[in-house]
Amino acid sequence: MQKKKKQNIVLIGFMGVGKGRTARALAELTGRFAIDTDDLIESRIKMKIRSLFAEQGEPAFRKLERTVAGWLVENVQETVISTGGGFFAVPKIRKIGKVVYLHAEVESILATIQQHPDGAKKIKKRPLLADLEKAKELFAKRLPLYRSCAHLEIDVQGKSAEAVAEEICLQLGIQKRD
Ligand code: S3P
Repeated sequence: MQKKKKQNIVLIGFMGVGKGRTARALAELTGRFAIDTDDLIESRIKMKIRSLFAEQGEPAFRKLERTVAGWLVENVQETVISTGGGFFAVPKIRKIGKVVYLHAEVESILATIQQHPDGAKKIKKRPLLADLEKAKELFAKRLPLYRSCAHLEIDVQGKSAEAVAEEICLQLGIQKRD
């Protein structure tokens, strides 16, 4: 009998909510590997996303996200996948795996970034955080969309990435590493 493939875990949510950190904690907890859609894009185009936005505009970036989504469906399994904050909008994201929305209030997300020692760098890296008021509007617009495509929502506010990873495993019934 063929071994049943284990589904990917796909982390979605707003910029700075901790998708990458949680993916790494989940990788450690489950013995899986973690990959990130922004990293995949940067490796393909050999440039930073910030430069891509500046030189070719957001639509070029969104097209690459759709290409990555198709590649993930075809080629990746049993993996933890962290995504860019707008990746949820690719068609049929649920075909990639179990989609987990990491939620925190936008004020808390932005305050955490601003208070971080590398806060300025983190903001500079993300073109859509350049205007914080616009970022809040974007969050409000996206919130119902994040929720509607997720299999599971986890409130991450005030929790460590390790605690969030534990909660995801428990809720999805995912086996931890021995
Ligand atoms: C974006 C989020 C970023 C990155 C790009 C666009 C978005 O990723 O994909 O700057 O549309 O929210 P992070 O969520 O990892 O910051």
